[in-house]
Amino acid sequence: MSSGNKEPELQNLVIVGTQWGDEGKGKIVDLLAEYSDLVVRFQGGNNAGHTMVVNGEQFISHLVPSGILQKKICVIGNGMVVDPEVLIKEIDYLTEKGVRIDPEVLLISQKAHVIMPYHKAIDAAREGCGKSKKIGTTGRGIGPCYEDKAARRGIRFIDLLDEDFERNVRHIAEEKNFFLSSFHGLETIDVDALISGYKTFRKRLAPHVTDISVVIDKAMRNGRQVLFEGAQGTHLDIDHGTYPYVTSSNTISGNACCGTGIGPKRIDHVMGIVKAYTTRVGEGPFPTELFDETGDFLQKKGAEFGATTGRKRRCGWIDMVMLKNAVRLNSLTGIALTKLDVLGGLDEIRICTSYKYRGRQIDDFPVSLNILGECEPVFETIAGWDEDISGIRRFEDLPVNTRNYLNRIEELTETPIDLVSVGPGRNETVVVNTPFKP
Ligand code: IMP
Repeated sequence: MSSGNKEPELQNLVIVGTQWGDEGKGKIVDLLAEYSDLVVRFQGGNNAGHTMVVNGEQFISHLVPSGILQKKICVIGNGMVVDPEVLIKEIDYLTEKGVRIDPEVLLISQKAHVIMPYHKAIDAAREGCGKSKKIGTTGRGIGPCYEDKAARRGIRFIDLLDEDFERNVRHIAEEKNFFLSSFHGLETIDVDALISGYKTFRKRLAPHVTDISVVIDKAMRNGRQVLFEGAQGTHLDIDHGTYPYVTSSNTISGNACCGTGIGPKRIDHVMGIVKAYTTRVGEGPFPTELFDETGDFLQKKGAEFGATTGRKRRCGWIDMVMLKNAVRLNSLTGIALTKLDVLGGLDEIRICTSYKYRGRQIDDFPVSLNILGECEPVFETIAGWDEDISGIRRFEDLPVNTRNYLNRIEELTETPIDLVSVGPGRNETVVVNTPFKP
């Protein structure tokens, strides 16, 4: 670990989760949003949850990037799927709390897809019917909306504003209602109510809808710093995650380009958020999962409940096979390690360095879920610490065992740790190196 601040440079930064989401990206985005001019989300929708503190009150935002509190320009990228009802509720809540959300401050891509009531109905029906594989989705219609995008049957914001909107939706809804009633035996969607509701939404949101690729490009040309905020995590990526137990979008850094309309040469730095241990919500394999009192300890001390669904998160040790996968898939240039304080009080801490599969050592994250499901973690053990580290702000002041843990993570991932979070508060952070020019 190299201590001491380097001279930060003007940077465009992508922040991604490296595990299965819930790594604590929100706090790091909040922190770095201060140094950026634009905060841009590039994928996912209201399956993500991000805790903000508004006038001393906790508020979980699912769509509005947290930069809004710092009066940054917040952008909903074309790679996102947006439930307009949820977005309007968030705007109303924030406005009530005194946060001004003018159309110049919150921008929505013309090409972002709109979540419709039939997407939510289909998501819920599939998860609950027992006919398909249960993924443990958040039930927000995310998957069915991305399905329609790929099937070229989606409604984008530009289509919501179009005069053909009503005709298009009637045509699409006919098929959805047939599927809901004939396959699932469920009630159909009231198309007239849907259309009148969505016409109200469009009136509210139309002033925010714009060509965000042009806006971001102009900002970059004018020397503005842009922060691209990823949602979920690398191992929930539709291509590279533990398919089919994944979300429906690309969560890795490359999608910051596709999901906003900028080219890869514009990205300077990719920060991976790594929780000091691993968690997962929903179904799917998890090699280092703990089923004992240490797992309970992490779940309770880390308050590991899903921000969107309130489900208890499964907990386990940090996993270097996963993290090395994340380093490669995202080209990570730095790490922000979060929730390090949660590990305090454990006698020893384990780091999974490889897997064992039928007597063979595995170093690369397996693609086959059958193999992954059979993999046993190979651990290295490090002595723990008892000290409360939440008041520490400098790397060199951390207890020696804590430093050993961090140094080992750096060594194994071959990636520098830029930030270490030692508590939920903004100031409860050890800044080793900031990628932004303050
Ligand atoms: P979906 O994104 O709602 O389709 O859910 C697919 C999978 O991704 C499920 O296992 C969810 O629990 C998981 N997931 C979606 N969003 C998040 C998130 O923000 N954090 C953690 N897991 C998530």
